[in-house]
Amino acid sequence: MNILITGGAGYIGSHVVKQLLDETNHNITIIDNLSTGSIKTIKTLKEIAKINNKEENLDFIEADLSNFPLIEGIIKAKKFDAVIHFAASIIVPESVKNPIKYYMNNTVNTTNLIKLCLDNNVNKFIFSSTAAVYGQPYEIPVKETTPTKPINPYGMSKLMSETVLKDCGLAYPDFKYIILRYFNVAGADIKIRIGQRFPNATHLIKVAAETAVGKREKMYVFGTDYPTKDGTCIRDYIHVDDLADAHIKALEYLTDNDSDVFNCGYGYGYSVLEVINTMKKVSGVDFKVEFTGRREGDPAILIADNSKIKNKMKWQPKYNNLELICKTALEWEKKLLKEEA
Ligand SMILES: NC(=O)c1ccc[n+]([C@@H]2O[C@H](COP(=O)([O-])OP(=O)(O)OC[C@H]3O[C@@H](n4cnc5c(N)ncnc54)[C@H](O)[C@@H]3O)[C@@H](O)[C@H]2O)c1
Repeated sequence: MNILITGGAGYIGSHVVKQLLDETNHNITIIDNLSTGSIKTIKTLKEIAKINNKEENLDFIEADLSNFPLIEGIIKAKKFDAVIHFAASIIVPESVKNPIKYYMNNTVNTTNLIKLCLDNNVNKFIFSSTAAVYGQPYEIPVKETTPTKPINPYGMSKLMSETVLKDCGLAYPDFKYIILRYFNVAGADIKIRIGQRFPNATHLIKVAAETAVGKREKMYVFGTDYPTKDGTCIRDYIHVDDLADAHIKALEYLTDNDSDVFNCGYGYGYSVLEVINTMKKVSGVDFKVEFTGRREGDPAILIADNSKIKNKMKWQPKYNNLELICKTALEWEKKLLKEEA
């Protein structure tokens, strides 16, 4: 297949590109504006392509999805079979302060990309959605049928894109999509070739790894009075390589099946304190942790019901182990530290 990957220089997109290069012969074109993605990641992906004798299979175009004529030209010229769409703005508090950025980048640019796919016969679309579409879910574990009620512009901007996809799937029967709703994505490539590069990340495991290697003096725990076993929030952490595998499965799945929505998580949750203690254990560093008040809009518990993706796509996670997730995040952070030295 000839695949367009938007946001392939970013955290999750780059892991999917790496996995496609390791495991398939697909041709890949990455479009990324490098706003949070990195040219160093692209360089590593090119090295991986070279090692796999697939240099010809990987193309990178630095472009912004809001440049509609440019994106249209690329889509017309390249005749893609499928799009995997990662590019987005992803920081929840920023979305509250600057909703227009989120609706423009996440909803408007996605709508344009879908339109260009429809205009140019690109009939497979895989979309990065998020557990944030559920808001404060009334049932745990969260099923794909649990009502969607986002509580911030980020979640709403993603839900609006989901709606565009669903309506287009109904209106144009040849057009098929898979919506993957990710829970908390964490860790790094199991061979530590790539990982999350963007500074000031807000993801708990990344922050804990940065604190363990001394990049941060301390880290914060937001809220200790939630109705959970130790009072801190519980989340479903999925290793980024298992998530990458879900995308490869989704591509195969779309060939013979209809459009659908799937949760991506392990169906098991860890508290913030459990994560921090695990990072302390694997790093051997008793780093400083400060306890502070709740953040607005954090649900106490978010755990995916993953039975649908396991049953329908035959997705089987391989790295369902918090210590392993923390270890890969830590090793990646050490690698970044060496690179910066
Ligand atoms: N990280 C998570 O835990 C998580 C959870 C749920 C959903 N998601 C979704 O997964 C996707 C990828 O997230 P990530 O964590 O890899 O984020 P990321 O910021 O690392 O990657 C996003 C990439 O898209 C690029 N990009 C952004 N806007 C663009 C534009 N207008 N034109 C071209 N490129 C653009 C960025 O430069 C970056 O490389 C996002 O859609 C996000 O909403 C992430």
